Amino acid sequence: MPLLQPAPAFLCAAALLLSAAGAKYTPDWRSLDSRPLPRWYDEAKVGIFLHWGVFSVPAFGSEWFWWHWQGEKNPTYVSYMEKNFPPHFTYPDFAPQFHAQFFDPDEWAGLFAAAGAKYVVLTTKHHEGFTNWGSPNSWNWNSVDTGPHRDLVGDLGVAVRKRSIRYGVYNSLFEWFHPVYLSDKQNGFQTQEFPRDKLLPELRNLVMRYKPDLIWSDGDWEAPDSYWNSTEFLAWLYNDSPVKDVVVTNDRWGAGCACKHGGYYNCEDKYTPGVLPKHKWEKCTSVDTQSWGFRRNMRVHELMDLPAIVQDLVRTISFGGNYLLNVGPTPDGMIPPIFQERLLGLGSWLKVNGEAIYESTPCRVQEENGTVPVWYTCKDSSVYAVFLMKPPPSSSFSLPSPKTSASTVVTLLGNPAPLDWAPLHPAGLVVLLPDLPPSPGHGWTLKLDGAT
Ligand SMILES: *[C@@H]1O[C@H](CO)[C@@H](O)[C@H](O)[C@H]1NC(C)=O
Ligand SMILES: *[C@@H]1O[C@H](CO)[C@@H](O)[C@H](O)[C@H]1NC(C)=O
Repeated sequence: MPLLQPAPAFLCAAALLLSAAGAKYTPDWRSLDSRPLPRWYDEAKVGIFLHWGVFSVPAFGSEWFWWHWQGEKNPTYVSYMEKNFPPHFTYPDFAPQFHAQFFDPDEWAGLFAAAGAKYVVLTTKHHEGFTNWGSPNSWNWNSVDTGPHRDLVGDLGVAVRKRSIRYGVYNSLFEWFHPVYLSDKQNGFQTQEFPRDKLLPELRNLVMRYKPDLIWSDGDWEAPDSYWNSTEFLAWLYNDSPVKDVVVTNDRWGAGCACKHGGYYNCEDKYTPGVLPKHKWEKCTSVDTQSWGFRRNMRVHELMDLPAIVQDLVRTISFGGNYLLNVGPTPDGMIPPIFQERLLGLGSWLKVNGEAIYESTPCRVQEENGTVPVWYTCKDSSVYAVFLMKPPPSSSFSLPSPKTSASTVVTLLGNPAPLDWAPLHPAGLVVLLPDLPPSPGHGWTLKLDGAT
């Protein structure tokens, strides 16, 4: 619990001593979970997720390629390797082909800004253990010693921050094949050599070097948070690190933590709650529905189209979530043009309708069926009703739940002219819609100013 609570005098003295030392949070969930989420995160709403690493080189199946091939020995992957590579080819042999020769961080940042993203999260280290910066704890298995010979984490961070986009780092706690991790695992996680000698020093290095706005933790599920020393790390992060006041974290800090402890909740990948959650959450999802990393064997029908992305975004925001949309860059450092096209489409939609998204809060009602299904968001004295289906021509357009007053003004975002409307009883209203302009994401927003 934070020490800013009324407390008996003797505790106050202790509190003063502790806060003088900066120890506001103690390394337990009760205290850590009481930390308010820095405000920028809920206001930002839209982020871009990037899965980029050595797995982008085989680019076959998914970013779990190495595991499928040599962990699980999945026949599809084993035979793919047998057919296409010499017998002694190992996974690390892919690293030199991770060239990133076309990687232009400013161009990426420009794309993310045009997509309407307010934060970007890059895989700095996925389960393969390869670090996208020169980690002193990942000798010869990092992007500076091999592959691109470049500080990818640093270069992207500088570029996105130039655009006032917040910068987040994804980090996998576990590594599939790290021998020290495997030895701790063999010991039933009763030894902690991997967190002590590899994970924790590396994570602190990442924080000190890049001062991330967000830590997207993953790969936690095989061991309890006490093995990872997550609460000790988070207490340091929240009390003493250079990002203590701005940093946001998720909930993947040990088996059983998801949806329960940490900063905001991811719960599971692509989490889609049916009722308004009580705790801030984020939906992470991927344009390529089959993979987070780039796949050469990707087909167009396996991708989310723009209306699907807009619908998913709108639903997520109306239910109080943030939307983190993933694309997988290629090993040469390109964002595949089909992903660029999706991101630019999202950006054009947000240019018109973003007022209903950014800095909004959930309303009394999240979704309902009027003339067509609508999703609501609220901000200041306005209710926004987003609809993704054109109503039948010349029908009156009804919204059953909003409460209006005589001074309510109804407009269609992108069109300043006030619309004629009439109240319904006991609540709701009927609106005379103009001809709907074409919408890139096939979604329109009514703004009800002076409604609840
Ligand atoms: C984990 O935290 C405990 C308790 O603070 C500490 O004694 C131990 O040294 C830490 N272990 C590692 C690996 O950092
Ligand atoms: C709206 O209608 C659809 C189709 O009939 C139904 O599946 C959905 O549950 C309804 N949604 C609400 C919020 O009533």
